[in-house]
Amino acid sequence: MSESTTIRWEQDADGVVTLVLDDPDQSANTMNAAFADSLDAVLDRLDTELDRITGVIITSAKKTFFAGGDLRDLIRATPDDAQRVFAGSMRVRSRLRRLETLGKPVVAAINGAALGGGYEIALACHHRIALDTPGTRIGCPEVTLGLLPGGGGVVRTVRLLGIADALLTVLLQGRQYSARRALEAGLIHEVATDRDAMLDSARAFIRANPDARQPWDAPGYKIPGGTPKSPSFAANLPAFPANLTKQLAGAPYPAPRSILAAAVESAQVDIDTAFTIEGRYFTELACGPTSKNMIQAFFFDMQAVNSGASRPKDVPARQVTRVAVLGAGMMGAGIAYSCARAGLDVVLKDVTQEAADRGKAHSAALLDKALAKGRTTPRKRDELLARITPTADPADLAGCDAVIEAVFEDAGLKHKVFQEIEGIVAPDALLCSNTSTLPIGLLAEGVRRQRDFIGLHFFSPVDRMPLVEIIRGERTGDEALARAFDLVRQIRKTPIVVNDSRGFFTSRVIGQFINEGVAMVGEGVPAASVEQAAAQAGYPAKVLSLLDELTLTLPRRIRREAREAVEAAGGSWREHPAERVIDRMVDEFGRPGRSGGAGFYDYQDGRRTGLWPGLAEHFGAAADRAPGDRTGRPAGQIPFTDMRERMLFAESLDTVRLLEEGVLTSVADANIGSLLGIGFPAWTGGVLQYINGYPGGPAGFTARARELAAAYGERFTPPALLVATAEAGERFTDARAAPAGSPSQAQ
Ligand code: NAI
Repeated sequence: MSESTTIRWEQDADGVVTLVLDDPDQSANTMNAAFADSLDAVLDRLDTELDRITGVIITSAKKTFFAGGDLRDLIRATPDDAQRVFAGSMRVRSRLRRLETLGKPVVAAINGAALGGGYEIALACHHRIALDTPGTRIGCPEVTLGLLPGGGGVVRTVRLLGIADALLTVLLQGRQYSARRALEAGLIHEVATDRDAMLDSARAFIRANPDARQPWDAPGYKIPGGTPKSPSFAANLPAFPANLTKQLAGAPYPAPRSILAAAVESAQVDIDTAFTIEGRYFTELACGPTSKNMIQAFFFDMQAVNSGASRPKDVPARQVTRVAVLGAGMMGAGIAYSCARAGLDVVLKDVTQEAADRGKAHSAALLDKALAKGRTTPRKRDELLARITPTADPADLAGCDAVIEAVFEDAGLKHKVFQEIEGIVAPDALLCSNTSTLPIGLLAEGVRRQRDFIGLHFFSPVDRMPLVEIIRGERTGDEALARAFDLVRQIRKTPIVVNDSRGFFTSRVIGQFINEGVAMVGEGVPAASVEQAAAQAGYPAKVLSLLDELTLTLPRRIRREAREAVEAAGGSWREHPAERVIDRMVDEFGRPGRSGGAGFYDYQDGRRTGLWPGLAEHFGAAADRAPGDRTGRPAGQIPFTDMRERMLFAESLDTVRLLEEGVLTSVADANIGSLLGIGFPAWTGGVLQYINGYPGGPAGFTARARELAAAYGERFTPPALLVATAEAGERFTDARAAPAGSPSQAQ
């Protein structure tokens, strides 16, 4: 194969070779077989023609610089493939090593995203210049896929920045930097305003540095900040494992630990040995289960969700220009900010001008913080604020082509505010409610155009939470669904689509997590153990502290409404053991949660001081034991594995029921919604991927659910859809969300 397949060779009169990455078969350049062949050919030609070459510039003809490894290949790797994966990754490292030891200056002209493998190519260049545009993102996000940068990224960032900085700024959190911030963090050397300027700077570097080499290849080079062997470093190192352990709380995330080990070990040896160390850790992660879950969710499912797999196909895309936000409270103010940030004009309406102004002030406060951190400019701040018009006058809503309602959670009030504005906004305006609990069908009864009415469930804090749950009511039309989807994408959030049902998807499923934690307290499990089990399972929020924040009266109200609805429909209500605990906490002990000054925790001036000691005294009587707990052991002494799995299983099982009920229609939406909206542990790849990835797959999960049902209650009985999936030897996937295309491997 000639180099012309994916890398174009352009040479000028001064002997500067520009290598243009431009895979003809894909929209982005990846580390596939064709690229590997091209790179080999290019390296050979560079060697042969070295006398006629003054330097090399690497850039791309695509929107992105380079997209990294081929995840379609990686997701298939099993422990049996370890040797192949290791050998493949070593070949990548040796190619990049050849590049950086060419003997001529090599410059990366980063014209767009250079993440993961893209940044690793740039790291093998002697000089890195990036285009200062919004599309330029730089960093090593591998950790967010359960991997480590396996193309020399660990070895080179450690040698470039030192162990501490490499870990904290690049490797452990997977942060993505803009060009300017990458410059500040020392990841690149220069920024350029346009492509010509970037190429000019690259040529200037080549002219000025004919003997360029990597800092780590210069005589006397020492790793910045020292290595664990040097005294200056010794003071810092002990903090790392401890901090990491604390951060991970025992949760099963292997990547950060491997990254830490690879960074420290590879810093103490020569560069070739360092590459081998990185390769071993990379292979272990790439062939293990966690990276598969995370790649499936954060790459494939995310792509399916954001590209519109759940959006009606035959409705043309449409953009909103002017949005009305009704209610300028916590949610309305956040929604207004997110819309204005995406360039929409926003009319923010509340009952009084003062309340509306307060809502706008939230945006000003967020922008001032961003300004102080250098994340925005005074001009951008002013432009964004100018797009938000606070008002108490419904007449100001004239011409709005979308409405997002976020007034108090009261169906009567919501009907009233829609009646007030329906005749004022554009005649075909999309009508959305941000209700968190009320049925969309019920709210739609308050408007004339029910086909245009839809739920748009944002999460708090709106400016930081990336998910929006779109709730389709029974009478919502395809056009409204497509427009709602487009609006969510327009404001750069991730939309999942569900059908109307009590609690929708996210609120109902997180309720199972909370109920399970509370039920364990009722059985006499020490509250501290319940909290620890949640952390060990990988939940970002501990279960009892989360409920204290939400307040215990919220699930009570939701339960009362749900119970009334079930009984009104002639059904019988199945009580959850958590209900009795919550009732006693509120009614008997007067502990409704943080806002009431006392909950599962004690508070002083609104700050948690510790778990309430009364829990052990008042809960866990023999009568409160779990139904299957006839062991005679002291109350609450159940294995930690059971505690963790009770929470995880409760959420996954209810998600399967939601699929059965037709509330959920997409596996990818379920996985992404659980990860981005309700803190389901990221290592699992989401609520349904957890079932797929459980030892033994859905069959193993089903068997374990039966055990939990016998020990802890019927609610763990596997639903029919799970049993059928397990018996058919299948997994939970959307055909459309599964990795497609033929596997390709870097050789
Ligand atoms: P909030 O109490 O902070 O704000 C409600 C705002 O609506 C107040 O500023 C109030 O003055 C205003 N309002 C009342 N009547 C109005 C009217 N006739 N016209 C215009 N504005 C009026 O409440 P929050 O937390 O912002 O919640 C709003 C909605 O969002 C509720 O439906 C809630 O269930 C939902 N939601 C809340 C979440 C949360 O975490 N707080 C999460 C997702 C949804």
